[in-house]
Amino acid sequence: MGVAVVCASRTGNTEKLAERARVELGEALTDDVAGADVVLLGSWTDKGGLDEGLAEALGQLAGKRVFLFGTCGFGGDDAYYARVLDNFASALPDDVEVVGRFMCQGQMPPAVRERYVTMAEANPERFQPMIENFDRALGHPDAADLDAFADALRAAGVLS
Ligand SMILES: Cc1cc2nc3c(=O)[nH]c(=O)nc-3n(C[C@H](O)[C@H](O)[C@H](O)COP(=O)(O)O)c2cc1C
Repeated sequence: MGVAVVCASRTGNTEKLAERARVELGEALTDDVAGADVVLLGSWTDKGGLDEGLAEALGQLAGKRVFLFGTCGFGGDDAYYARVLDNFASALPDDVEVVGRFMCQGQMPPAVRERYVTMAEANPERFQPMIENFDRALGHPDAADLDAFADALRAAGVLS
């Protein structure tokens, strides 16, 4: 089985997941997206959805089996993860079969926290929880996230 990995990552979080997948895939990994049996499609979360730069790659996925994965800044809420993954899925060609999905938290750049701290001075009720979320995100995806991703790939039958 040939498996291709297509991933959009701006600051490296989602790329960590992609790299784990590549290592686990070994010989099954292929660069040939058009010829692959399964495509792992990964993205950071941009305003609740996929990186817009993936638009061109999406056209190559028609009729394919696809495993969706990603990272997002807002963590610890499975319902939120599911919503983002639904948004990812809605961008796929209609005839794609989604064989599995995985989402975890990804850390954000320090400038984001500085902005929250400034805004929390005027509106602590809104921004203090965002500072706490930022701090929880530090270090993610971590080793446990990567293991959970590998488990999800195995459960979907993408890895043996
Ligand atoms: C412009 C922009 C928009 C973002 N929008 C969201 C969002 O809607 N929801 C969310 O949870 N995280 C959002 N994030 C956070 C990133 O998705 C998150 O930090 C992700 O792990 C970055 O992954 P990367 O390192 O692979 O680029 C946004 C980040 C940026 C820079």
